[in-house]
Amino acid sequence: MAASGNGGSGHETIFTMEATPLKYGQGASEEVGWEVKRLGVSRVMLISDPGVIEAGITPRIQELIEAEGVEVELWDRARVEPTADSFQEAADFAVEGNFDGFVAVGGGTSIDTAKVSDLIATHGGEIMDYVNPPIGGGKKPPSPLKPLLAVPTTSGTGAEATTVAILDIPDQRVKTGISHAYMRPVRGIVDPNLTMTLPAEVTSSAGLDVVCHAAESYISKPYDERPKAESPDERPPYQGANPIADMWSAKALEYGGKYLRRAVENGEDVEARGAMMLGASLAGIGFGSAGVHIPHACSYPIAGLKHEYQPPGYPQDHPFVPHGWSVIVTAPAAFRFTYDAQPERHRRVAELLSGESIERADENTLPEILIQLMKDVGAPKGVRELGYDEDDIDDLVEGAMKQQRLLVGTPKEVTEEDLANILRESMDNW
Ligand SMILES: [Fe+2]
Repeated sequence: MAASGNGGSGHETIFTMEATPLKYGQGASEEVGWEVKRLGVSRVMLISDPGVIEAGITPRIQELIEAEGVEVELWDRARVEPTADSFQEAADFAVEGNFDGFVAVGGGTSIDTAKVSDLIATHGGEIMDYVNPPIGGGKKPPSPLKPLLAVPTTSGTGAEATTVAILDIPDQRVKTGISHAYMRPVRGIVDPNLTMTLPAEVTSSAGLDVVCHAAESYISKPYDERPKAESPDERPPYQGANPIADMWSAKALEYGGKYLRRAVENGEDVEARGAMMLGASLAGIGFGSAGVHIPHACSYPIAGLKHEYQPPGYPQDHPFVPHGWSVIVTAPAAFRFTYDAQPERHRRVAELLSGESIERADENTLPEILIQLMKDVGAPKGVRELGYDEDDIDDLVEGAMKQQRLLVGTPKEVTEEDLANILRESMDNW
C-alpha cells in the first residue's frame, strides 16, 4: 500500500460495510418470539399499522412474542407518509412505556416509526433536533439504541436493512430523514408469506423502488472520489459506490429484472414474491452503504408538494404518491443524464436488469429498459400523471435541491438546470 494511503489527494480512502443480520424464508416470522427472547428484552413496544393488524399479521406476531413470557404493548397508529408530529406521538408513547426493546411489523412506515421511537426513548430530545440538516439540527445519537427487530410486510423499502427514517415536513413542503448508523435494526425477519396479500399496484411501486435503490447505488459516485471525512464520526452512512455494496446491488437488480413482472402479474407466485422480498433486503444493504441520488432526491418533492394523486390499489382514504412510483418516474431521464460519467456501470445495470448480455450501449439503453419495465408493471407514465406540469418544475427543483445529502452521491455535478431538464423529460416517459 502506498504510504500516502491516508488520502493525500483529499479523497476518501475508507468505506465501511455494515449489514442487518437477516433471517429469511417462508415461515421465518413464526420464530419471532424466539428472536425477541434472545435479545434479552422483557417489555416490547410493538409498532404496526391498521392494515397489517387487520390482515391478522400483527396479532399473530404479538401472540408469538407473549408466548415467550415477554410483555407487549401495541402501537397501532403508524401512518403512511409519516410527519414529525406522527413520529412524535409514537415517540411519546415509547418514552412513557419504559420499554427495553422494539418490534416493527409492517412497511417502511412502521419500521421507520419504530426507529425514531427507539431513538427518542433512548436519548430524549425533539425529533427535529435529529433531522438531517439544513432542515433539522443534525444531532447524532451518542450511543447505540435499544434493540429493534424489524419484520417487513412489503417488499420495497428495505427499511429493515437501512439506517434512515423518512418523514414529511408539511410546513416546509418537503420530505427528509433522520440517518445514523445506530438507527439500523439489530435484526430483520424477512418472510415472503407476509406479502402474499399485497395488491398488484403496491407490489409494482415497492418493486420499482427496489430497482431504483440498486441502480442508483451501483451508479453512484465511488467512495474514493468523495472528500475524505474529517473524522470517523463525520463519515456519512451513504458513502458512495464501493465493491461490497456493488455485489448487493447487482443481485437485487438481477432479481428485479427477473421477478418483478411475475410478482405483479400473480400475487401468489411464491418464488417471485420471495425473490422480490429478498431483493428488497439485498438492495437495502447495498444502498444503506452506497446511497441513492437523483431519482430519490426528486421523489421527495414529487410526493410532498401536491397531494392530489389517488393511487389505484391503495386505501382510498387520502391522496398520495406511492414512494416507488415517485422515484421511478425520473429514473430514465436521470440515468440518461449520468450516462457519460460512468458508461460502463450504466451498461452493466442494463445487462443485469434485462438478463441479457449487452455489448454496446449508449445513453438510451438503460432508460429504455427501465421504461419497458415500468410499462409492464403498470407504473404511471411520468411526473404529469402524478399531478404536475411544466409550471411546477421550479418548485420541484427547489425541493430536490434540498436533498444535498443524496445529491452529493450523483456521479457527476448536478445543477438546478440539470434537475429542471430531468424533470421536464420525465413529464411523460412514453
Ligand atoms: Fe426508496
